[in-house]
Amino acid sequence: MIDRRALLAAPLALAACERFAEAQTPARAVPGLKSITPFPVGTCIKSNQIDDPAWVDLAGKHVSQLTPEWEMKMEYILADGLDRPRFDGPDRIAAFAAERGMRLHGHTLIWYAQGEEAFAHLDRARFTAAFDAYIATVAGRYRGKVVSWDVVNEPITDAGDGLRDCHWSRALGQDGYIIRAFERARAADPDAVLFLNDYNLENTPRKGATFLKLVERLMKAGAPIGGIGSQAHLDIEIPAGQIRTFIRNAASLGLPIHISELDASLRSDRRVDLRSREQRLAQQTGRVGELVEAFMALPASQRFAFTVWGLRDTDSWLRQGERDDGQDQPLPFDAGGRPNPMFDAMVAGFTKRA
Ligand code: XIL
Repeated sequence: MIDRRALLAAPLALAACERFAEAQTPARAVPGLKSITPFPVGTCIKSNQIDDPAWVDLAGKHVSQLTPEWEMKMEYILADGLDRPRFDGPDRIAAFAAERGMRLHGHTLIWYAQGEEAFAHLDRARFTAAFDAYIATVAGRYRGKVVSWDVVNEPITDAGDGLRDCHWSRALGQDGYIIRAFERARAADPDAVLFLNDYNLENTPRKGATFLKLVERLMKAGAPIGGIGSQAHLDIEIPAGQIRTFIRNAASLGLPIHISELDASLRSDRRVDLRSREQRLAQQTGRVGELVEAFMALPASQRFAFTVWGLRDTDSWLRQGERDDGQDQPLPFDAGGRPNPMFDAMVAGFTKRA
């Protein structure tokens, strides 16, 4: 006789089994990203990730360059005020990078979004002296430890119509604060490659063009700019070809290019979103693939590094706090370190023959 209870229980048991199997599925065997590219592959890092063995394993397999996600920023270093710079976090990251033989990319010396409070009480002469001293202290401390710096971060307005007005530009001039920052960074660390870094350069063509005009002006003014950093927080809905066009235009200036903070959110915060998950994944892998191919098409001397802004989705700044919908997959690996479709798109691009 058939046991009805057993029959009813069977699907439930099967479902439970599948869930268990999914949780236990080991990451499928994949190549280490750094082992298939002739240039460094990077990720951002927070010092507490050094205490997460799963993160350390994943980073050890895939990346050869690190960018401090937060702890080399003014907000962190000057948390206790101008006179008491704090270096515990960045020192720990620098030691980890050295121990593991990974390159370290400094991020970031001067950013419109930070330092306003710490510098607010200073008159003009003191402001300038403190600006110079900050760069001398920070870039000097990591001289020989970093290969490169984002000297100025995000100088262009969101609309892309010009340079941001900020506490630095009001004191030192719009191009003035940028040129001065590069000169001070060069004096503090003669060997580091010095980058200008910004976002939406591929997403917003007007912003990309304004950014490249600024780079040209800096070069003409003799500022020691050594590279272009494109953050590449990609909008996966932009038309095909737009990313390639920006990278080509950037390359025409002859400087090395750093894809410095790649992530590609599946979400759209701008409107009601009717796309299926499959459509979004196809858009994401399409645009990431285009970026990788455009980078691969550069002359070797212009491929500085290719950096993702986190390894696992759950590490992403887009998956923190209120912004987190629990679903987004902006990075190459899932919470368990298993490869996402984005990872496969990267591998396909990195290994494609021209
Ligand atoms: C973000 C970090 O990911 C967050 O953890 C932090 O709280 C805020 O900054 N452009 C940049 C990065 O240059 O420094 C930003 O990183 C993301 C946007």
